[in-house]
Amino acid sequence: MNIFLFGATGGTGKEILIKLLEHNCPVFVLARNPDAISIRHHHLTIIKGGVYDTETYKEQLSTCDVVISALGTGTSRRPTEIYSKGGQQIIAVMQKTGVKRLVTLTAGAFDPTDPATRSRIIKYIVQPLFKNIYADMQKWERILESSKDIDWTIIRPSRLTNGKERGSYRTLQDHCPKGGSKISRRDLADFIIKHAVAPKYIHQKVAVAY
Ligand SMILES: NC(=O)c1ccc[n+]([C@@H]2O[C@H](COP(=O)([O-])OP(=O)(O)OC[C@H]3O[C@@H](n4cnc5c(N)ncnc54)[C@H](OP(=O)(O)O)[C@@H]3O)[C@@H](O)[C@H]2O)c1
Repeated sequence: MNIFLFGATGGTGKEILIKLLEHNCPVFVLARNPDAISIRHHHLTIIKGGVYDTETYKEQLSTCDVVISALGTGTSRRPTEIYSKGGQQIIAVMQKTGVKRLVTLTAGAFDPTDPATRSRIIKYIVQPLFKNIYADMQKWERILESSKDIDWTIIRPSRLTNGKERGSYRTLQDHCPKGGSKISRRDLADFIIKHAVAPKYIHQKVAVAY
């Protein structure tokens, strides 16, 4: 199974890449700065480019079975369109080339219907702090919900850590599992490549946490 991975230079993307290669999956990654990827592997193809420049990656993406997006803003909290506009570029290429399966990341913390967001910390600190990012994630989720020709899965992790892999975590449709507040990027990567690509998660939002 060929995988196209966006965001491989980021914290989660790097963990996804390591695991995909451990599973011997051929992986194509797009990187604005290929030197930021230190891994070399016969199954890894690094393409230099940005998500908005579809010409840089459309050919390789067309050969893939699954697209995984771990795009994000790094430490920036400024207004962004990386999810909505970046995501639209990805699905435009998928639609043109007939690739259907997409697994993408947002967060559960912006969703007022999620009981986990009723805590004071989320409401009065986290949501105001990350409002620009959450606004664009919300747009991206709406775009996907109206893109029935794409077999999308939205992963909504709780707070990400660089902690060790535990090998166990909880998932729930739409909302954060009760009491869950964090997950390591390694365990998130594990869930994505072992479970989230399965057909049962198509057109679902899946929250994941310890
Ligand atoms: N931090 C948390 O607690 C938390 C909680 C829930 C959800 N999330 C979400 O989970 C995702 C992963 O987070 P993370 O902290 O592990 O990753 P991250 O460090 O934010 O990585 C972002 C990745 O996106 C890439 N990227 C950004 N703009 C790009 C562009 N125009 N073209 C191509 N690539 C581009 C970056 O590449 P460069 O190296 O070139 O910048 C990097 O590889 C993010 O969407 C984040 O918002 C985070």
